[in-house]
Amino acid sequence: MIYLDHHATTPVDARVLETMLPFFTERFGNAASKQHRFGWEANDAIERARKQVASLIGAGSKDVVFTSGATEANNLAIKGAAEARRSDGDHLVTVVTEHKAVLDPLKRLESEGWRVTVLPVSSSGLVDLAELDAAITARTVLVSVMAANNEIGVLQPIKEAAALAHSKGAWFHTDAVQAVGKVPFDVDALDVDLVSITAHKIYGPKGAGALYVRRPSTSLRASNRGVKIAAQMDGGGHERGMRSGTLNVPGIAGFGRAAELAQAEMPSEATRVTGLRDRLLEALGATTDGMTVNGTLDARLPGNLNVSFEGIDGEALLVSLDDVAVSSGAACTAAEPSHVLVALGLSKDRARASLRFGIGRTTTAAEVDYAARKVSDVVTRLRAMSPV
Ligand SMILES: Cc1ncc(COP(=O)(O)O)c(C=O)c1O
Repeated sequence: MIYLDHHATTPVDARVLETMLPFFTERFGNAASKQHRFGWEANDAIERARKQVASLIGAGSKDVVFTSGATEANNLAIKGAAEARRSDGDHLVTVVTEHKAVLDPLKRLESEGWRVTVLPVSSSGLVDLAELDAAITARTVLVSVMAANNEIGVLQPIKEAAALAHSKGAWFHTDAVQAVGKVPFDVDALDVDLVSITAHKIYGPKGAGALYVRRPSTSLRASNRGVKIAAQMDGGGHERGMRSGTLNVPGIAGFGRAAELAQAEMPSEATRVTGLRDRLLEALGATTDGMTVNGTLDARLPGNLNVSFEGIDGEALLVSLDDVAVSSGAACTAAEPSHVLVALGLSKDRARASLRFGIGRTTTAAEVDYAARKVSDVVTRLRAMSPV
């Protein structure tokens, strides 16, 4: 079985697992235990991980709040910002191609009386900055635009979007789950306020993530803007009161190591993975008619390819790819045609007849060649069998 679904999740790197293991057994302490060595050791591991994660995104380590993953980080950012800014406005802005972990918290806020603008995208998959600008008003408290899409891999103009939000007094959140560790991402260069990330997309474990929360700066930055969000989980006051709950020490230690490895290996990995992606596209293009690439190739994650096929039944396509693990959309919404592809203008049938390839750290050229041959054979066979 060949795994080409690295946007859904990634395997834990052996070096990450090695870092995690002691914290399940001999170093099992609670990081909040201040009175003995077991607690100190666990706390040291957390603080090391905090530095490693912060370094990957160019942040100060005090701005990193550990969570159970990006779904929780997105909920904390969006609901926490809305609650904290209730008296400043009544409006939030996002984009139709966001992950459900952004869209659904916003829907919840809408049901509680907030106004939410969900902007469309063009067929490239990118948001139009003039439309974004027009949507943000003095009543807007938060704008949320993802850094890289989890289905079509396109990279949104985050820096420009954040500047537009700030020019009207709104805070800016980005779900950067798919971008961080794959393409350069620096919270100061982009000037973003809230950033969601997760370990299991960067060869770390599932169940560990973080929200970057920009604190009012003590440095001489041009703007001294900082954000203070309302906690959504109350209890022991962990994570500077922003996320109570005993910390997942093995998971977070693994997250830190995964971040460190991603940072060190990103330049060479990005080049290698882009090469494999282009090789896959070329091989598919040479052997398969009626194929289009979904979303622009000009601003895209190195390891992403998303293509759709004319005149193919999507379900038959996926079933026939029995030894190549790919998907037709996000793992969590697999039953529906992808809302992302429909937003690009594809019909529901065409969206179903789409494949998302996610190339990753362990992918080889031989695997890519095999997958391309297999897809091309399956598409040819299904077309030959089809009455239309
Ligand atoms: C863009 C994006 N946001 C959020 C999530 C949710 O992250 P988690 O699985 O850590 O909750 C995912 C992946 O599952 C994702 O791809």
